[in-house]
Amino acid sequence: MIYLRLAWLFTTKGVKIVRKSYLRTIFVVVLVSLLVFSIGSVGIVADASLIFDPDNYTIKSVVVDGQTVKFRAYENIVYVKNPVSEKNQSLNFYVPLKYYEKDSFPVEMVPIFLPNGIGGYMPAEPIVPGKKESHGDEEADLGPNASAVALFKGYVVASPGARGRTSTNNDGTFIGKAPAAIVDLKAAVRYLHFNDEIMPGDATKIISNGTSAGGALSALLGASGNNKDYEPYLEEVGAAPAGDEIFAVSSYCPITNLDNSDMAYEWMFNGVNDYTFLGGGTLNEYQIQTSNKLKEMFVDYLNDLELKKPDGTLLTVNKDGSGNFKDYVESFVIDSIQTAMDNGTDLSDQSWITLKNGTVTEINFEEYVKYITRMKPTPAFDALNMKTWENSLFGTATLATQHFTEFSKEHSEVNGFLADQDNVKMMNAMYYIGAEETMTAKYWRIRHGAADRDTALAVPVILVTKLQNVGADVDFAVPWGQGHGGDYDLDSLFSWIAKVSKFPAFAN
Ligand code: DHB
Repeated sequence: MIYLRLAWLFTTKGVKIVRKSYLRTIFVVVLVSLLVFSIGSVGIVADASLIFDPDNYTIKSVVVDGQTVKFRAYENIVYVKNPVSEKNQSLNFYVPLKYYEKDSFPVEMVPIFLPNGIGGYMPAEPIVPGKKESHGDEEADLGPNASAVALFKGYVVASPGARGRTSTNNDGTFIGKAPAAIVDLKAAVRYLHFNDEIMPGDATKIISNGTSAGGALSALLGASGNNKDYEPYLEEVGAAPAGDEIFAVSSYCPITNLDNSDMAYEWMFNGVNDYTFLGGGTLNEYQIQTSNKLKEMFVDYLNDLELKKPDGTLLTVNKDGSGNFKDYVESFVIDSIQTAMDNGTDLSDQSWITLKNGTVTEINFEEYVKYITRMKPTPAFDALNMKTWENSLFGTATLATQHFTEFSKEHSEVNGFLADQDNVKMMNAMYYIGAEETMTAKYWRIRHGAADRDTALAVPVILVTKLQNVGADVDFAVPWGQGHGGDYDLDSLFSWIAKVSKFPAFAN
């Protein structure tokens, strides 16, 4: 009997609507079964700690648009069996209270919004619904954060924390270097899948969200579903035995494709020698030569990708950086300007924009790049002095920083080591999109601000094109006037989520 119930619980994907009284019985049966038979022959080896407890919640509320949204708050759930950092390897799980009212929309069918709060590849804790964090001005009210808006719109929210590049244990050993953050996000997703039948929300409809490093990890999570590369790491942390594929990705300004970003940066910013990072400066002669070399190296990189535009045209770059790839990148800036002008932004003083009867027909790309300015010196990511956040990301248990490209290792000013190339691969969504035995998410929404210089616009364009080339459905835009940031268009984001997840409007 127990076996039958267990089998039913873990295989009946179609039966999403489980009566609540029955749910509790099932939960108890599963819990007891797993405890008794966990080392036995049931085929499921799981610790009791991996089982969600539906009763362990408090009621909380948040105000959005003047309305109070009440929800069940299940907070700080450790999502792995062998945590090394409980505050990071845990998730917050929130369910709008309205689903517990009579005749409500079935909570088992509600998509799960999965926002991560990762920035700068630092450790992150689970997000709490509330106000957007204001950096600097403590008093500034930036409105509700994405989790609060998600609850307001009727979504279930699961926010995972994750280890990051500065995480250490008690003896100072680093425990969050690559690929720890993606391993943790995958483990959180596995927890949701493993518990899907006893947890509110539909784990087949997980929509990940993140910004910058968090956007890169959101994209990586969506690209690499169930890929075997991560298996030993997931086993080590004691992730639940379940899949880690997700349904959709929202990614703001992803700092992704790190091992090729230095080349992409110089393809775009070569010729602009003043930079703004860390008080600013001007590239010296050696750095200008380095920029020239990296720009040249981008040519082979891009051409080898054999990316195609949606109309099937092969995208290429010439030795000098020109070519239809450049035109294609430029076309997103043109669309950006056109949209801004259609919405009333006056850009008539920008002489690099050519207008005909209110339509942008052409831009001077070099002038656009000068207009937004260069942020980072060269190499932008794998610095020769090994001082960037990415150098830190690719450190080891005992090394704070390493190089991660052959180029910077060769030109290192500090005799740095080169990171294990498997770890570099495991942090890069590009290698997993459409790969064998990999479930790449079908739906993607990617934003990169037109004024963002934390990475080159070429990086998201390459990501988007690769996704489209394997059949993914991608909504990509370059919002005008937008710098490095995310969650600035939450109404549009949730409209998109409702559309792709077919979440009925009456549930909102
Ligand atoms: C982030 C920004 C960067 O410029 C970078 O190199 C890595 C991460 C961030 O904001 O997360």
